[in-house]
Amino acid sequence: MTQHFPMIDYRLANAAPELEVRNLSLWYESKKALEDVSFDLHPSELLAFIGPSGCGKSTALKCLNRMHDDTPGVRIEGEILFRQKDAYARDVDPPEYRRHFGWVAQKPNPFPATIYRNVSYGPQIHGLTSGKADLDELVESCLRQAHLWEELKDVLHKKDGTELSGGQQQRLCVARALSTKPEILLMDEPTGSIDPIATAKIEELMISLKQDHAIVVITHSMMEARRVADRVAYFHLGNLLEIGPTEQMFTAAQTREARSFIAGKFG
Ligand SMILES: Nc1ncnc2c1ncn2[C@@H]1O[C@H](COP(=O)(O)OP(=O)(O)OP(=O)(O)O)[C@@H](O)[C@H]1O
Ligand SMILES: [Mg+2]
Repeated sequence: MTQHFPMIDYRLANAAPELEVRNLSLWYESKKALEDVSFDLHPSELLAFIGPSGCGKSTALKCLNRMHDDTPGVRIEGEILFRQKDAYARDVDPPEYRRHFGWVAQKPNPFPATIYRNVSYGPQIHGLTSGKADLDELVESCLRQAHLWEELKDVLHKKDGTELSGGQQQRLCVARALSTKPEILLMDEPTGSIDPIATAKIEELMISLKQDHAIVVITHSMMEARRVADRVAYFHLGNLLEIGPTEQMFTAAQTREARSFIAGKFG
């Protein structure tokens, strides 16, 4: 299929990309799930993946932080450059590579441990802090960035992450995703299982986190994509059919498929 790549925002075009994805294809055993996907992700950019169920959005997202590495039967072709370096080069250590990416899933999935432990675990594993005061400071900073500090600062060691409300749990997962100081956040339908008020808080968070992170978010909500995204990528049957600035995609998408999907005609 022909891909349409209209001119992107001039500001974004000037910065070196955080990620460059080139001709990415992926097979689950013999089934091809991605075909020749190419796009860039720029610093401080929020890119939304949209498209019908089963079109390859989650599959593509998981390639970016090498989450398919341990899945038997997965074969990947093409290239992913993170800060100009091949993500799959021999000398890249996968756990160290993944530290540069924060992951937030659809269903809030805090560890069954204290709020503090949920956020301190990653930095401890990766040896990112030196001593308790340093770790305390990092935990506070992540909880502040996730707009949770004021609500939870008195119960950090008293409450488990699993005892929080659904919306708080999701913000805790965002704090945990930030704890390894990633440059890129990957969010797979982060508002897909929380209520509208909690959704508004997560959307607000995404916009504030964009200042210091590049973000890729998958969403089934066209309104959400329009509210938060700088650019939108439309996936269709494993192809990235069209990518462009959000308003352009919503008002003048080039492909019939993207126009129909955005208009709510299928998906
Ligand atoms: N682990 C797997 N093994 C085999 N096939 C898979 C696996 N994961 C996904 N697939 C298939 O790959 C295709 C793309 O799936 P993917 O989960 O990426 O879609 P999606 O766009 O994220 O869909 P949704 O919007 O429903 O989450 C689908 O046909 C799916 O059945
Ligand atoms: Mg998915």
